[in-house]
Amino acid sequence: ALMDDAPKPLAGRTAIVTSGPTHEPIDPVRYIANRSSGKQGHAIAANLARLGADVTLVSGPVTIPDPAGANTIHVESAREMLEAVTDALPADIAVFVAAVADWRVATSADNKIKKKEGEGPAPLVLTENPDILKTIGHHADRPKLVVGFAAETADVIANARAKLARKGADFIVANDVSPQTGIMGGDRNRVRIVSNDGVEDWPDLSKDEVAARLAARIAESLNRKPL
Ligand code: CTP
Ligand code: CA
Repeated sequence: ALMDDAPKPLAGRTAIVTSGPTHEPIDPVRYIANRSSGKQGHAIAANLARLGADVTLVSGPVTIPDPAGANTIHVESAREMLEAVTDALPADIAVFVAAVADWRVATSADNKIKKKEGEGPAPLVLTENPDILKTIGHHADRPKLVVGFAAETADVIANARAKLARKGADFIVANDVSPQTGIMGGDRNRVRIVSNDGVEDWPDLSKDEVAARLAARIAESLNRKPL
């Protein structure tokens, strides 16, 4: 690695980051998923590592490379993601960036579902996935600092505040992903940090800049509070 003389305010700290989508199988060849490139989550893992944290990145299926400096665990489904995150506890920091599929097919088929002449397709019966952030936010081994994301298309701050309380997070990084913003799949992000202290409005930044700033914000918050 190149010499990096940057200060290491997260030296001795452990962090867990989730990133990417999850894939929920319908049968061996089909799945349900959210749109997510993994760019933002991977950049956050890299930036926490750059500040000295020992980072476990739990990534759903993405096409981007594993980030430098983090230990990456690859999973497919929400249930696998929850298991990998739980296995990585205890940790000082947890940042939930993954676009987890809210639902999975109740019973996925062991064999490829075939079309049947003259019959329409069978309906998919869905069931709710575990909420990984909410589980960890209320866990007996809860990390000192728990950060969630909220991708919203309307009522961004109200929805983020509700998620902060419901999920037991310290910060929610809220962003407006309505189609006209062009954020989905792009390289830029415009976020607001919602906590019990209020709302911080961040300017339009690259996803790498958001990641660097969030890692610095996390370090500041951990090193300030006598947690
Ligand atoms: N999250 C999670 N596990 C889930 C669903 C969401 O860990 N099963 C996390 C996401 O990684 C994100 C935060 O919860 O950090 C908010 O995700 P979001 O989809 O915005 O919230 P939901 O509670 O699923 O609400 P909705 O999709 O209805 O807005
Ligand atoms: Ca959701």
